[in-house]
Amino acid sequence: MSYQVIARKWRPQTFRDLVGQQHVTETLKNAILNNRVAHAYIFSGARGVGKTTAARILAKALNCVKGPTPEPCGVCDSCREIAAGTSLDVIEIDAASNRGIDQIRELREMVRYVPAASRTKVVILDEAHMLTGEASNALLKTLEEPPDRVVFVMATTEPENLEDTIRSRSQHFHFRALTFAEITKRLDEIAQKEELKIEPGAMAVIARMAEGSLRDALSLLEQARAYCGDIIPDDQVRALLGVVPEDALEELVGAVAAGSADRALGLVHTFQKEGRNLQHFCREAIRHMRNLLIARVCGADSELIAATPDQRPAIAKAAALFSEEDLTRFFQILLQTDDDLRRKPDPRVHLEMGLLRLINASRLAPLEELLAELKSGAPGGTSSGTARAASSTLRQTAPPPKVLTQTFAPAASAHPEASQRFASPSEAGDATTATTPGVKAPNDSKETIRVSGISHEQVAEIKSAIQAEQKFLGELVEHSSGWELEGAELRIYFSPEKRPFAEMIEGREPLERIRAVSSNVLGRAVRVCARLDSVAAAAAASGSQELRAQFERDPLVRSMLERFGGKITEVRSRQQEK
Ligand SMILES: Nc1ncnc2c1ncn2[C@@H]1O[C@H](COP(=O)(O)OP(=O)(O)OP(=O)(O)O)[C@@H](O)[C@H]1O
Ligand SMILES: [Mg+2]
Ligand SMILES: [Zn+2]
Repeated sequence: MSYQVIARKWRPQTFRDLVGQQHVTETLKNAILNNRVAHAYIFSGARGVGKTTAARILAKALNCVKGPTPEPCGVCDSCREIAAGTSLDVIEIDAASNRGIDQIRELREMVRYVPAASRTKVVILDEAHMLTGEASNALLKTLEEPPDRVVFVMATTEPENLEDTIRSRSQHFHFRALTFAEITKRLDEIAQKEELKIEPGAMAVIARMAEGSLRDALSLLEQARAYCGDIIPDDQVRALLGVVPEDALEELVGAVAAGSADRALGLVHTFQKEGRNLQHFCREAIRHMRNLLIARVCGADSELIAATPDQRPAIAKAAALFSEEDLTRFFQILLQTDDDLRRKPDPRVHLEMGLLRLINASRLAPLEELLAELKSGAPGGTSSGTARAASSTLRQTAPPPKVLTQTFAPAASAHPEASQRFASPSEAGDATTATTPGVKAPNDSKETIRVSGISHEQVAEIKSAIQAEQKFLGELVEHSSGWELEGAELRIYFSPEKRPFAEMIEGREPLERIRAVSSNVLGRAVRVCARLDSVAAAAAASGSQELRAQFERDPLVRSMLERFGGKITEVRSRQQEK
C-alpha cells in the first residue's frame, strides 16, 4: 500500500470511532435504524473535527450490503470503495471552488436520475456557505423536491452564513471542537499503532497547538515524525513548533519563588540571544500561571488545565509554592505585560519590567506592615499587630473621601490579605482602595457598571452564579465595565486596557459556561459574547483631572508612591457616597 499521511490513514471508519461527536452519531444511528434518514443535513463545526468523516460513514451505513445499518461491515465492495474514496455513491463537492450556478445545475442533473438500484448517493457540499446566491437558489429547489435516494450533507464552518431557506429544510448538527483530553487520547492510540514513542510533554504541546482540531493534531504529529523519527522528544517538538521549553517556565516560577531578579532577567537575556519571540514567551508564561492558579483553586486534576496526567504533579508542586492571591496577581501582571508587549516598541524592556514586577510582587513586605511604617514615619520592622491597627486607622481617617480606586504601576504591591480587604466591595464605604499593579479594583459597584436591557440585580446574580461555579472565571467577569442584553445576545463589555480579560472570556469553554449560567438566571436562552468598550466610553469612565490632582497632593499617597516607586494610572470617582 502506498504511503498515507497519518490523518488520512486513521480516518474513523465507523460511528463508534468518531471521537467526541456522540450527540451526532447517536442521532444518525437511530435515524438509520428507524429508516428516518433526512434528505438534507447541515454538519457545522470547526476545521478537522469529523464532518466529512461522519458524512462518509453515513454513506457507508446506507450502502453496505448488510445495510442500511448503523454498523457498516467495512469489508463489502461498497464499504471498501467508500473508505478508499473511489465510490461513485459519495459525491464530494468543494463549494468554495465550485460556487456557481452551473455546478449546482450539473449536480442536480447528476442526482435527478439516480439508478433504481438499491443505492443511496450522499452528496457532500463542503464549505456550503460559499455558494453564490443563485447557486443557493438552485440547491434550494433540489431540497424542496428531494430526489429519492439522495442525501445532501452541507458541511460548513459558518452555518450562520447559509441561506435561511436552506437551513430550514435541513437537519442541523453541530460538531464540537475536541477537548485536550480527547485529542491526547486519540494521539496516544495512533502513536501506539504507528509504533511511535512520544514524550508526554511533546504530546501536550501538539494537543494544545491543535486547538480542538483532530486533523491539525494528526498533521502536527506527522510533522514531528518527519523531524524526529519514531522517537519524539519534548524538546525537539518544542523547537520544531517554536514553543517555549517547559524548563524555561519552570525556571521563571523558580525565580519568582526565590525572589531572584537575576535569574528572571537571565531568562530574558537567554531568549534574546537565542532569537526567541518574547511575546510568545509572555503568552506561554500567562498560560502557565493560569494553570498554576487553576491548580490552586480547583486542584491539579482539573479538566480546565490543558496538561497530560504526567505533567500534573509538577504543576501541583509549583502551585503549592504560592497563595491563590499571589498567583492571581502574577497572572494579572503578566496579562498587563502582554498588553505592553503588543502595543509598545522594545519588547525586551517591557518583558524585563514585567518579570521584575513579578519578582517584586512576590517578595514585597505585606502592605499592612509598610503602611504602618509610613504612618509611624519610622522605617523598620513592625509586628503584624501594630500593622493591623495602623491599617484600620488608615481606613477611618484617610482623605480624600471621593476616591474609589487608585492603581499603582509598576511596582506597588500589597499583601494579599490587605489587597483583598481593601478591594472588597463590602467595604465600599472605605475612603481609599489600594490595589496591586494591574489589578484594578473590580468594577462591581452598581455605580461603575453600565447596563442595558438587563438589571443590575440580574448582572449581580449572574456574576455570583459564575463565581460559585468557577472562581477563576468569576474573577475575570468582575473586570467587566458593562452588560447589555439585546434580543438573545448578552454582551459583556470590557474597557480597552482590559482586553486580555475579554480575550480570556472569549474562549469556547468560558463562553459556554457563562452562557449556561446566564440563560439559567434570565430564564431564557441567550448567546454570550465579550466586547471592548469604545475608546470614548472608556475615556469618559476614567477619572477627572481634578480628582487626580487632589489625590496626587495627598501626603499619604505621596509617601506611598515614593516608597514603592509607582505612579498613579487611574483615579475614579464614586458618584454616590454613602
Ligand atoms: N471526531 C474525530 N474523531 C476521530 N478522528 C477525527 C475526528 N475529526 C477529525 N479526525 C481526523 O481528522 C481527519 C480529518 O477529518 P474530517 O475531514 O472529517 O474533518 P472536517 O470536519 O471535515 O474538516 P474540514 O472542515 O476542514 O473539512 C480525519 O481523517 C481523522 O483522521
Ligand atoms: Mg471536511
Ligand atoms: Zn459493508
